[in-house]
Amino acid sequence: MTNRIHSLIKQVIYVSKPVGFDDKILKSILTQSQINNKKNEITGALICRSDLYLQYLEGPAYKIDFIYSKIKLDNRHTDVTLLEDGRSKRRLFSNWAMRDDPFKDWMWTKQEVADGAINRLSKGDAMKIFVQHSREVDQFLS
Ligand SMILES: Cc1cc2nc3c(=O)[nH]c(=O)nc-3n(C[C@H](O)[C@H](O)[C@H](O)COP(=O)(O)O)c2cc1C
Repeated sequence: MTNRIHSLIKQVIYVSKPVGFDDKILKSILTQSQINNKKNEITGALICRSDLYLQYLEGPAYKIDFIYSKIKLDNRHTDVTLLEDGRSKRRLFSNWAMRDDPFKDWMWTKQEVADGAINRLSKGDAMKIFVQHSREVDQFLS
């Protein structure tokens, strides 16, 4: 009998601080992510602005663990802090190997981010942000 846990996908959310944030770095991260994630059946979204990365990743648990361990060591950002480590029966993002969204400045002011507002988000709040985000961008989801 198969263990039901194996059919669940793993969901991870982390926040980090960009190092050397510019279009070139962002493009290289996104290109790399889109190629790798597609291969690894990982979907998700990256909210990116000069003062923070907030990334949601979902997919097979061992693949998420592997990618997350690489991401943590990446010197294009620092202070990688895990906000959510969950399991789900279904994905939030069906189509995006990695969707980038640079347009989330309204969520928090630079001062709030500098004061650590994101690191104080509760687990549920971090997930709510991406549930809302997926509804806005992933129109093909049934
Ligand atoms: C903010 C940020 C987000 C990233 N997201 C992903 C991702 O979703 N998938 C991925 O494969 N790599 C991601 N990376 C890149 C990884 O840290 C790492 O460089 C890459 O996976 C190595 O790929 P390679 O083994 O094919 O060279 C991210 C890096 C940063 C800084």
